[in-house]
Amino acid sequence: MILAVFQVAIATIFFDYVPQSDTETVTDALSSYPNREDIDPRNFETIQKIYNLTVFPANAKIITEGAPAVPSGLFNENATGRVTPVGEFFGFQDSFEYFFGLAPLPFGVPPNGAITNATLVEFASGCPEVAASTVYLNVSTINPDNSTGPFIAVLKQVAFWRFDAEGAVLKYDAWIPNLDPFTNLLHGFDSNSVAGMTNIIGGICQLQETTCVGNNAVYNGVNDCVQTLTAKPFGRSDEAWGDNVVCRQIHVLLTKIRPEVHCAHVGPTGGGKCIDVAYNDVYFNDEFLFDAPLGTPFTCNDSGL
Ligand SMILES: *[C@@H]1O[C@H](CO)[C@@H](O)[C@H](O)[C@H]1NC(C)=O
Ligand SMILES: *[C@@H]1O[C@H](CO)[C@@H](O)[C@H](O)[C@H]1NC(C)=O
Ligand SMILES: *[C@@H]1O[C@H](CO)[C@@H](O)[C@H](O)[C@H]1NC(C)=O
Ligand SMILES: *[C@@H]1O[C@H](CO)[C@@H](O)[C@H](O)[C@H]1NC(C)=O
Ligand SMILES: *[C@@H]1O[C@H](CO)[C@@H](O)[C@H](O)[C@H]1NC(C)=O
Ligand SMILES: *[C@@H]1O[C@H](CO)[C@@H](O)[C@H](O)[C@H]1NC(C)=O
Repeated sequence: MILAVFQVAIATIFFDYVPQSDTETVTDALSSYPNREDIDPRNFETIQKIYNLTVFPANAKIITEGAPAVPSGLFNENATGRVTPVGEFFGFQDSFEYFFGLAPLPFGVPPNGAITNATLVEFASGCPEVAASTVYLNVSTINPDNSTGPFIAVLKQVAFWRFDAEGAVLKYDAWIPNLDPFTNLLHGFDSNSVAGMTNIIGGICQLQETTCVGNNAVYNGVNDCVQTLTAKPFGRSDEAWGDNVVCRQIHVLLTKIRPEVHCAHVGPTGGGKCIDVAYNDVYFNDEFLFDAPLGTPFTCNDSGL
């Protein structure tokens, strides 16, 4: 704790990048944790800042402007991790696209939901390298004037984090439980009903028609897309990684940011991303993913990393 206070003081004096008001806000936020002496305030602030950027309209700005809109210092250029049940992400670009590019935008279909609040309900960080958190992301209707309307649902994410020496996220292993019921509330219909599936396939095909154009085109128009996707398994939001519709429903959102990469994932072959994977391989390949022995990436040690 003393070390952490000292770090903030140093940063304020020499780099002047921690405005006093932010420091106070973080201290205020930390005061609600009974064992706050076990929390590294630098790591708390980094994680809260990351989740704050999922809140509308901060996410909209990143989806429109891409990497330059992501504040520096949050993710290491090599940031790599897994978000169950969505996939694995390698490097800064992949990582920020997942964290911010998939945060819902309210435009289009009712109930027009977006994240309106991000609260770290649980947080622990007993050493500068590692933290664990649970965030509640409250999703509400966004009114036409962008003000917050009625509550829709909470999205929960549980995560372990590893930080580099500067405090940017280097590795993460996160889990979003219960995406099936969450998605149904966000859409306002049952995704697995016939009408719901038709609706979702139509939405994917309409969107890719506007984002996957020219060299990035993967279908011969909306009808070809609808026919191809109707012939595939629908899949479930709680296991979105596979050669199915639900996987493409996620990846089509990212075609707004990098069509040259993500259109292929939405296409007929899945482009190496929306492909059938072996559960026992992809959810347990920690040593490959984190390039470190099992049990070390998210456990405090004296490596001084
Ligand atoms: C997160 O956003 C809230 C609401 O705007 C703000 O009060 C808080 O200071 C932000 N936290 C950080 C660490 O930026
Ligand atoms: C990212 O990884 C590359 C290749 O291993 C390395 O050269 C580079 O220094 C790393 N960047 C950071 C910020 O650690
Ligand atoms: C979330 O709501 C809490 C309680 O109203 C508030 O203190 C906090 O600043 C809000 N955070 C964000 C990111 O909006
Ligand atoms: C988030 O939603 C839950 C469920 O309605 C509510 O109890 C909680 O107060 C909300 N939190 C914030 C900060 O808005
Ligand atoms: C609502 O937010 C979006 C995204 O930032 C912006 O494009 C739009 O102009 C805003 N609408 C209003 C009425 O402020
Ligand atoms: C400490 O953690 C790093 C990163 O996971 C790992 O490479 C290193 O082997 C660990 N050191 C010890 C002594 O366990």
